[in-house]
Amino acid sequence: MKRIKTLHSELTFSELAYGVWRLAESSPSTQSTDAKIRVCLDQGITTFDHADIYGDYECERLFGHALKKSPNLRERMELISKCDIALLSEKHPNRRVKYYDTSRDYLFKQVQQSLRHLNTDYLDTLLIHRPDPLMDASETGEALDELIKEGLVRTVGVSNFSVWQWKLLQSNMSNRLISNQIEINVFEQSALWNGTLEAMQLDQLLPMAWSPLAGGQLFGHQVNSDLQNVFSRLEKTQNCQREHIALAWLRMHPANIVPVVGTNNLDRILFLNKMSQVELDRETWFEILVAAKGSEVP
Ligand SMILES: NC(=O)c1ccc[n+]([C@@H]2O[C@H](COP(=O)([O-])OP(=O)(O)OC[C@H]3O[C@@H](n4cnc5c(N)ncnc54)[C@H](OP(=O)(O)O)[C@@H]3O)[C@@H](O)[C@H]2O)c1
Repeated sequence: MKRIKTLHSELTFSELAYGVWRLAESSPSTQSTDAKIRVCLDQGITTFDHADIYGDYECERLFGHALKKSPNLRERMELISKCDIALLSEKHPNRRVKYYDTSRDYLFKQVQQSLRHLNTDYLDTLLIHRPDPLMDASETGEALDELIKEGLVRTVGVSNFSVWQWKLLQSNMSNRLISNQIEINVFEQSALWNGTLEAMQLDQLLPMAWSPLAGGQLFGHQVNSDLQNVFSRLEKTQNCQREHIALAWLRMHPANIVPVVGTNNLDRILFLNKMSQVELDRETWFEILVAAKGSEVP
């Protein structure tokens, strides 16, 4: 599995990241979490994507139990986490509504909580999870710089940000934002067409793609017969599964997109690195795009 350089830090990511959003869905034990981590690491998937809120604030804790049991795993991985979404949850009985909070105090509180839950001293990357209309860019930018200065996080970035949203934040910081994590997959093609990926290349932000398999829709009734036919042909000729083709399709984009895959199934995780063996030429790349879009390019 290739390593991907981030442009403004020493940090590198694996070319495929593993997302833990769904970790709590399958009544996991420390043992099963440990098994998933090791199966990822063994094939070179070293970048793990968290958020404070995943699994109603439980996923970081589950992962942290595995790290506590095997502390030597920590140095073999990069930990990303995110915050600013304040979730409606029994753990926060006083909240009346789900909202966003990019204030300095909230960011520090959530990062410290993530570190406690994950049983680690630092995050490799902290992302602001969602754009916050009430973000005071000067306060948030300063807080991100301070989190780096205090050694709580090595690098910072954003998620689901538009060009102007990240430019505003960046203009209020001395450290560089290293990444923007956004939704991109065969059904969610907006970033391929609206200039977002071009702007990220210009500003040297590494794109990470969340829900690269469309959150599982790639295996359901949304797949029309054209797309089904392309996938079936490629599965045979390339000797792989649909997920490997969809991931290779994202990797072929010149912006160097890192897909953040979220399967909870150990057998599927075991073969994710088959993605690297898939070879798509330009015409096949467009065949997938057009079939998923349901109409030809203009
Ligand atoms: N920044 C953000 O705002 C944001 C938002 C959403 C997600 N994320 C990140 O992105 C990560 C990935 O998101 P995601 O889980 O939606 O990604 P995904 O990889 O697109 O979808 C995972 C889903 O696809 C299913 N799936 C995979 N292979 C399959 C197969 N061969 N047959 C049938 N079903 C299959 C999985 O089921 P099985 O578990 O049964 O395999 C799972 O339900 C998250 O964990 C999180 O880290 C970030």
